[in-house]
Amino acid sequence: MLTRIKDIATKLAPRLVEIRRHLHSHPELSGQEYQTAAFVAGVLSSSGLYVQEGVGKTGVIGEVQGTGTDHRLLAIRTDMDALPIQERTGLEYASRTDGVMHACGHDVHTTVGLGTAMVLSQIADELGGKVRFLFQAAEEIAQGAHWMVQDQAMKNVSAILGVHVFPSIPAGSIGIRYGALTAAADDLEITIIGESGHGARPHEATDAIWIASQVITALQQAISRTQNPLRPVVLSIGKIQGGRAPNVIADKVQLWGTVRSLHPETRAHLPNWIENIVANVCHAYGAKYQVDYRQGVPSVQNDYSLTQLLQSAAEEAWSSDRVQVLPEPSLGAEDFSVYLEHTPGSMFRLGVGFKDRIINYPLHHPEFEVDESAILTGVVTMAYAAYKYWL
Ligand code: NI
Repeated sequence: MLTRIKDIATKLAPRLVEIRRHLHSHPELSGQEYQTAAFVAGVLSSSGLYVQEGVGKTGVIGEVQGTGTDHRLLAIRTDMDALPIQERTGLEYASRTDGVMHACGHDVHTTVGLGTAMVLSQIADELGGKVRFLFQAAEEIAQGAHWMVQDQAMKNVSAILGVHVFPSIPAGSIGIRYGALTAAADDLEITIIGESGHGARPHEATDAIWIASQVITALQQAISRTQNPLRPVVLSIGKIQGGRAPNVIADKVQLWGTVRSLHPETRAHLPNWIENIVANVCHAYGAKYQVDYRQGVPSVQNDYSLTQLLQSAAEEAWSSDRVQVLPEPSLGAEDFSVYLEHTPGSMFRLGVGFKDRIINYPLHHPEFEVDESAILTGVVTMAYAAYKYWL
């Protein structure tokens, strides 16, 4: 079966490169993937899949019904949105839309999803059950997976597989990880309310800027002294706003930040832990405060047996030296984790780095590029893992 999958995928490879270049030239922002979704639906229906459009806003579902009678439904998820970045690669198939670029490889994910759908539709007579392809919108704003779930895309799903490109792994190789792959990402907004006054007479005022600086320092120091260093927490304040004039003491400062963590128990206590520090600093200096902690996406926790499935499929397909077991998770975020609240799953990293280049630009960089030979690696790995799921 592996040879058959490789033969079909190899024949499809030139067309898949064309598809990827088409998607790359026509990127669309999160929640606006209208052309992309129509294109995806067209390819899926011409490959004989059952297709449903408008799932999770601009998402698309495609299904391949295997001839086997196993009732376990396997989902394969890819994302379709691009980023508000001006492309600077100079490629002939570079983005034709000003200020929008597929800089996170979601064009490759969509292509791998389509290629896998084409391969599996050709071997449906050998599949033990049904495969559902989820082409979701709006991953970059961490909304698309929620929308898909709300529209019942996960109904009856027993397991889910996903893929994300990775420029620091060379094309031809993949990375897998047992357990945590990405972090939980939450949003933080803190407001410090003091009392305005003359810059020359601070004792008659309550300086919200100074207190805000104490809050930031206290939070950063408290992480190193009160959080388990083996259970990482990153808190970054990325935006701060307050004050009116150089000689006027500010009565209000707002801070906005992101909070990353890997362990669910750690994450659960973070809102209280932060509020407690903010409250005590503000109390000490006579300011009022407000803390808004909004949970974003959880950490991607890869399921053990589905990660084994990916590893064995890739090792059989490509030999074990092309399968890296990643030693570390990323503190980036990925809304694939939203599906994992409903069913076990695993996401692998698809190497897209050029072996002969010293610099492979990172994800979200205006010069980010992929070695397109990775598409074949991705399709064969995914299709063969899907086939093996029911064995
Ligand atoms: Ni991405």
